[in-house]
Amino acid sequence: MRFLLLILPFLFFGKALGDDAIPASLTGAKGDPQRGRAIVANRQVGLCLLCHSGPFPEERFQGNLAPDLRSAARLTEGELRLRLVDPARANPQTIMPAYYRTEGLTRVAPSLRGKSILTAEQIEDVVAYLVTLK
Ligand code: HEC
Repeated sequence: MRFLLLILPFLFFGKALGDDAIPASLTGAKGDPQRGRAIVANRQVGLCLLCHSGPFPEERFQGNLAPDLRSAARLTEGELRLRLVDPARANPQTIMPAYYRTEGLTRVAPSLRGKSILTAEQIEDVVAYLVTLK
């Protein structure tokens, strides 16, 4: 019993750490940082600048509900990927949308059911862009 109590926190935190990243590319290939930047800055596709700010001198209105995207520099590629795919896995209370998840969502318009906000290719492009902010 005592042994179990000792080892439990390690099991728990070990799992939490393991869940905090998606190390492998969703497409098996590297994304294109140029296309990724365009997705992040685009008001129809990524909508990132609704909440975030970042190095986009051409965009006058940027969000202040979320950290500046330059703060992503401290995250690894796998951690960035997870935060785009399903940010609730890093922070269950997050207001950031899950850009590549279709299950477990409520109130999805019928025409959008089963569709993720971004495609796997677009996720990889955005990840490729975010790692250039290092
Ligand atoms: C509705 C608001 C909202 C939108 C839209 C949004 N985010 Fe976020 N994002 C957040 C918040 C808030 C956080 C802070 C952590 C948390 O609460 O989950 C965050 C965290 C992050 C982080 C981690 C930053 C860090 O320093 O830990 C990254 C990277 C990120 N977002 C990228 C993006 C990208 C790229 C997009 C567009 C594809 C996007 N976000 C769209 C709200 C948003």
